[in-house]
Amino acid sequence: MKIGFFDSGLGGLTILKATRELLPQYDYLYFGDTANLPYGDKTEEEIYEFTSSAVRRLFDEGAILVIVACNTASAESVRKLQATMLVDEYANRKVLGVIIPTVEALVECGAQNVLLIGTRRTVSSGKYEKELKKISSQIKLTSHATPKLVPFIESGNISGACTTLEITLQGEVGEEIDTIVLGCTHYTLLKDNVRSLYRKRVISQDEIIPVKIQTYLEKHTEIKSTHSLGGTITVVVSREDARYEKILNEYRTNTRE
Ligand code: DGL
Repeated sequence: MKIGFFDSGLGGLTILKATRELLPQYDYLYFGDTANLPYGDKTEEEIYEFTSSAVRRLFDEGAILVIVACNTASAESVRKLQATMLVDEYANRKVLGVIIPTVEALVECGAQNVLLIGTRRTVSSGKYEKELKKISSQIKLTSHATPKLVPFIESGNISGACTTLEITLQGEVGEEIDTIVLGCTHYTLLKDNVRSLYRKRVISQDEIIPVKIQTYLEKHTEIKSTHSLGGTITVVVSREDARYEKILNEYRTNTRE
């Protein structure tokens, strides 16, 4: 069986790529819902509908474990999927999001005063605050929506995204902030720029999620043992677009299938 990855677009490929570097033995199936991108400005109901149908699709392709490599979808859907679809229909399957591992990483690195940037929906959900509160009362978390970045990043315009970020965060990154969380998988592509711009600790999910997946699989050998060991990647998107060709070709020629 393949390990399923899901994102609203191509941003989650950065998490998949890093996971494959750490765990090259597994087969991976990635689904990017490019037809419905961006999720960040959709309603909670729409995000749940898109996410549940994407997860169902990956399950129906045989995935036992699905990583929701999208903060917006994780914020609005993962707990609900775990409490409904996994109980009612797919009892032997697992869905993991990216928010809980990220707040765990904040505790592990000793962060004190954190600025989270993410989509409007991730920020308005308050999910980071809720999950963080469950494991630490010491860390102060401030969230800031940066909704204009995803379209720049999806079209490969990293410098446009950085300029926009700098303008959006003007006056927000004070001395007191010790850690910035890139709370959107697309933003991992900006991590070097954010590091050199603000000189803070930057939590980038491509650097933490693979290790969390590895730890999860070591702990859950009944899930680990279901996975095939062909070392392949299959990438599927719900809408092809000329803008995506270069990056998709990179992954598609990289597959050993
Ligand atoms: N990749 C998504 C996330 O991590 C955001 C992109 C979108 O708005 O669809 O939140």
